[in-house]
Amino acid sequence: MQITINGNRMEAKEGQTVLQAALASGVYIPHLCYHEKVGAAGKCRACVVEIEGMRGLQTSCSVMVKEGMVVKSQTETALQAQRLVIDLMLSTGKHDCLACEQNGHCELQDAAYFLGIERPSILYADIDRELDTTSEFVHVDRNKCISCGRCVAACNGTVVNQVIDFGMRGHSTEIVFNTNKKMGDSTCVQCGECSQICPVGALIDKNSIGKGRIWELDKVSSVCPYCGVGCKLELFVDRKTNKIVKIEGAEDGPTNDGMLCIKGRYGYDFVGHPDRLKTPLIKENGQFREATWDEAIDLVVSKFSAVKEKYGPDSIMALSSAKVTNEENYTFQKLIRTGFQTNNVDHCARL
Ligand code: FES
Repeated sequence: MQITINGNRMEAKEGQTVLQAALASGVYIPHLCYHEKVGAAGKCRACVVEIEGMRGLQTSCSVMVKEGMVVKSQTETALQAQRLVIDLMLSTGKHDCLACEQNGHCELQDAAYFLGIERPSILYADIDRELDTTSEFVHVDRNKCISCGRCVAACNGTVVNQVIDFGMRGHSTEIVFNTNKKMGDSTCVQCGECSQICPVGALIDKNSIGKGRIWELDKVSSVCPYCGVGCKLELFVDRKTNKIVKIEGAEDGPTNDGMLCIKGRYGYDFVGHPDRLKTPLIKENGQFREATWDEAIDLVVSKFSAVKEKYGPDSIMALSSAKVTNEENYTFQKLIRTGFQTNNVDHCARL
């Protein structure tokens, strides 16, 4: 269908919200509680616009497009309301951008920049919420929380771990874990979905702190090495040290929709670990020694051939791994059936 946004005719699709249609056409409207994965929350009201024929300002993240709709996101009334929302968010938190880990990767900062807010007009001096550093992988700073509810929606509706919710009331409202436990003492499984979806610096990956801002790092697409699901990853790599600093789930990952488990998101220290094996090892006289691949493969071939010759092909069995790809598993069973001539092949996931 055709709609008009800020005087420009553009295409929109049935079932899209005004915000989705605007973003798809490259028109930025500030939005903080909306995320495509958790849908319209209609909570933060940063996305308000004027729509012809509708009274008052409308949250563009919750109004569906209609043929011929005329939307204005940059009238003085809309901008004033957007500015007020962002101004109040900045006023009621400790958003010290210069020192914030999320500087340059913060949606509140983006909105403030777009609306030309250099500093909040009111400053509450008494904001001093205790940091929660009890979790192994997620750093919790409620001073930066804008109560957008994305983490609540993601934890309950997307990954369905049901750990995060809003607690307390009124001015004291804040995100809580279970019945207001510390994150490290809660039933959180540390999947990190909350840190990935948090638009500000309230929930961030603890092990990445101080190791470089996201825009300073090289983004490399990869696939998680841990299991056969094959979750798509974005690795953020420090190009000076060639070390992985952070991992996010790729939002366009066909099997994971941006979600990851604790291993895929945080278990990457093995990649550059000094103990990691880089060459095959052959044990001689009780001691391992480094060997070349040719040497190792020749040894394995000769030992297996000897066993097969002496006891027959069915004396050999083979177990494949959930950590490798489908294609590697396919090749492996082919090798066992045709090369070793036995059907004794299985996969560790059967355990
Ligand atoms: Fe629409 Fe928050 S993005 S109300």
